[in-house]
Amino acid sequence: MKLWSGRFNKNTDQMVDDFNSSIRFDQRLYQEDIKGSIAHVTMLAKQKIINSEESKVIIDALNEIHKGIEDGEITFDIEAEDIHMNIEKLLINKIGSTGKKLHTGRSRNDQVALDMRMYIKKEILSINELLSKLLQVLLSLAKQHTKTIMPGYTHLQKAQPITFAHHVLAYLEMLKRDRERLKDTYKRTNILPLGAGALATTTYPLDRYQVADQLGFDGICLNSLDAVSDRDFCIELLSNISMLMMHLSRFCEEIILWCSNEFQFIELDDAYSTGSSIMPQKKNPDIAELVRGKTGRVYGSLIGLLTTMKALPLAYNKDMQEDKEVTFDAIDTIKMCLPIFTDMLSTIKVNKDKMYQGATQGFTNATDAADYLVKKGLPFRDAHEVIGKLVLYCIENEKALETLTLEEYQTISNIFEEDIYNAISLETCVNTRNVMGGPSETMVKAVIKQHEHDLEKFSILP
Ligand code: ARG
Repeated sequence: MKLWSGRFNKNTDQMVDDFNSSIRFDQRLYQEDIKGSIAHVTMLAKQKIINSEESKVIIDALNEIHKGIEDGEITFDIEAEDIHMNIEKLLINKIGSTGKKLHTGRSRNDQVALDMRMYIKKEILSINELLSKLLQVLLSLAKQHTKTIMPGYTHLQKAQPITFAHHVLAYLEMLKRDRERLKDTYKRTNILPLGAGALATTTYPLDRYQVADQLGFDGICLNSLDAVSDRDFCIELLSNISMLMMHLSRFCEEIILWCSNEFQFIELDDAYSTGSSIMPQKKNPDIAELVRGKTGRVYGSLIGLLTTMKALPLAYNKDMQEDKEVTFDAIDTIKMCLPIFTDMLSTIKVNKDKMYQGATQGFTNATDAADYLVKKGLPFRDAHEVIGKLVLYCIENEKALETLTLEEYQTISNIFEEDIYNAISLETCVNTRNVMGGPSETMVKAVIKQHEHDLEKFSILP
């Protein structure tokens, strides 16, 4: 029998039960649901809405049900629709009519909003843990490679020399912003919806602040309609995860390029690469490709939920049950991607020679050659023109700027002197970019220090 069967003359069609029920996917909320019920019942007793003996019986039974679920002794029932009614039904089967008092002054509408907020709070903390490990790996790679020169690119064309540390630290910045966004989402998720009832609170004298306190919420939702119809926190999290995946996908793309035969900047560890069923020589970056690929499904979840919520009238609508699968899938996806990406990255072999060699090709020191002329008094635009001509000469004669003779330099401009060679060495190019935020060893080391401090003191919790 359904918990709401009173006004019906007939059972629901089997197809309706299958279609309507969410127990298949919302059973993962059982811990939150039980914790929330215990807090609710504790408050009901304190407010003398039920007596303390009843509350004790209910709480003991809820704890037993919790254990039963953990021990795998409980099978859920599709007919009971969702995790909330499954647990309530189990409770009533266990303790009879006292169990029927649990839902006093509560609706599944505020209950499900509570469970989702509690679940997301928990998952933000665990995503943050995984993210912390990745940040540490980035930091340690950066520390090892403050002198590892590589070409920097724009338009995927060689541009100016940088270091591998500098490149890696760009990702560290992105991921630090990602964790700030998670922290911010946590803050808004950390508000208690329970007490909103179905949509207009209740006539019982609930103490919502006590429930908030017991469950570790920072405050309570101040409008009951909003409390039950708000899924912004799910959408925010999906947006945070989307952005995080976007960052991982960019890094993956570079890793895929770097371990190609054309680049050979890095080599993936065998444990994080795959072979081909037909081509014996192959070593493929499947992990990086899959992380890049899964970014698409996370975006799909975000757009899916935004679209579900679009134009929904207040307050609760069953459409909102669709929040779960997409939110859970995105959480599962990021929790799979982060650790495998972290381990893959921490085991790469960096080919310093190939990186250095890469920076010697493609005239990455051309800007520095122009700046050399500027320092000798030529206006920058004129210097740009001179070096452009020199580059053209090099291309036609298959030379690099550093392999031109001084005579060759001087046929183009008599400003050039012997010191041009030092001025355009890759080491000079990198280390004279000694502006905060730049690739010089001094600046990168200063930034690393700052990151060490920030990573150490960061916490999602206020
Ligand atoms: N399973 C539902 C959900 O996830 C719970 C809330 C149902 N409320 C209702 N009035 N039907 O959204």
